[in-house]
Amino acid sequence: MINVQAGPIQESVTESTKKTYAQKFNMSGYAAPKLETVRIGFVGLGNRGPGAVNRMRKIEGVDIKALCDIRPEKVNAVKKSLEGSSHNPQVYTGKEDEWKKMCDRNDIDLIYIATPWSLHAPMAVYAMKQGKHVCIEVPAAKTLEECWQLVETSESTKKHCIILENCCYDFFELLTLNMARQGLLGVILHGEGAYNHDLLNSNFNKTGYYEMWRLKENMRNGNLYPTHGLGPVAQVLDINRGDRMDYLVSTSTNDFSMSAKAKELASTDSFYKDYTTKTYRGNMNVTTIRTEKGKTIMLQHDVSSPNIYSRIFKISGTKGSVLKYPDPERIAFGDESWISEEEFKKIQEQYQPPIVKRVGELAKQVGGHGGMDFLMDWRTIDCLRNGLPVDMDVYDAALWSAIAPLSEQSVANRSKSIDVPDFTGGSWKTNQPVDISLEKGGNTKVKL
Ligand SMILES: NC(=O)c1ccc[n+]([C@@H]2O[C@H](COP(=O)([O-])OP(=O)(O)OC[C@H]3O[C@@H](n4cnc5c(N)ncnc54)[C@H](O)[C@@H]3O)[C@@H](O)[C@H]2O)c1
Repeated sequence: MINVQAGPIQESVTESTKKTYAQKFNMSGYAAPKLETVRIGFVGLGNRGPGAVNRMRKIEGVDIKALCDIRPEKVNAVKKSLEGSSHNPQVYTGKEDEWKKMCDRNDIDLIYIATPWSLHAPMAVYAMKQGKHVCIEVPAAKTLEECWQLVETSESTKKHCIILENCCYDFFELLTLNMARQGLLGVILHGEGAYNHDLLNSNFNKTGYYEMWRLKENMRNGNLYPTHGLGPVAQVLDINRGDRMDYLVSTSTNDFSMSAKAKELASTDSFYKDYTTKTYRGNMNVTTIRTEKGKTIMLQHDVSSPNIYSRIFKISGTKGSVLKYPDPERIAFGDESWISEEEFKKIQEQYQPPIVKRVGELAKQVGGHGGMDFLMDWRTIDCLRNGLPVDMDVYDAALWSAIAPLSEQSVANRSKSIDVPDFTGGSWKTNQPVDISLEKGGNTKVKL
């Protein structure tokens, strides 16, 4: 039984306890020793995990050593999909703690975690302590305590703790990052992101998420899934690498859908009876963040209203702005009109980042949210094989995920402003921006 906590999370780590955090070792910019072959163990093979296995098998220098899911049918299906390939993973299944045996092995370099949220940090901490790098699906942690555990464990073990924020590798987001780096948008002063995706039916689907974990998560109130919108914006703003988040305020509407849905379903199916007495997060949450250098970020989160899918992605600078959602993606250098399609293409050609030039077309062929999932996995493996710092380190994992519990605190206190912890222990002042040059590495081949 997965332990999904309902209701507001009680934290024992307060804002003040960690205000003066002294970093043990700086993982930002840290290059772990090169791994010619990256030997991977996967845990969590539900909706998301199998796609990751399928992408990784297409990357040179990957050896899929182990597969774990508590449900035998899930793990066996993925094992079968690898028949006839060079990969012959051992299977771990049937018990809640089987994944530990996989982490205990000494012939695995990386544990790739795609389980329910409450298992992310415990699995990642254990795996790092067993000497493994970890990739964690989003959000990487649920509570501030877990965020700090990730930071402290990554620093003490010198193992990478990579948050799998695939939206950082979407094509327009990467183009914008490069445009911003080259100064095309001037000084960046504001960013917006969102996760507005109607999951009402999926969350109440009995055969959807394992043991209804995602519905149970929605009994917390705040922005529970901030990283898709935030990740790309944080990279453009050089958060943790030149700037830091100072404080946030967060507001939620009432719940106008989930409780009603529970009651509607329970009227014909007793399975849902227990869900009628719960309280659920408000439909829309709006969180605004102010940075140390006086920039702002606005995030939205709504998974229970029938919105058209949107991650927003807006960046405003002193010389220009970009906007994605609704399509098509737009760029402007003034307040009158977006640039023409022709001008857009010219900018795209000129500012296409090297990773897209190198493997963008291959990524589109492999797929996974249009190719961004593959760019993320390829870049991760390429960094590990070449001994390069990773793009999304433990400070990003902790900070981006921390928005959920911090927003919960603000919502529960009439949108009170809440300090955002500095997980970098002050090293944000000197940490270097994410390297998008591909000057080092970039030599990992794709096997189609
Ligand atoms: N980045 C993205 O675009 C994206 C998209 C979808 C999901 N996700 C993330 O991926 C993760 C998984 O989501 P999902 O939709 O696949 O959920 P899911 O419920 O379909 O899959 C989770 C899997 O974990 C397994 N599991 C549960 N407890 C386990 C244990 N103790 N040991 C081993 N396996 C266990 C379940 O059997 C299940 O197969 C979540 O964190 C989610 O937020 C990310």
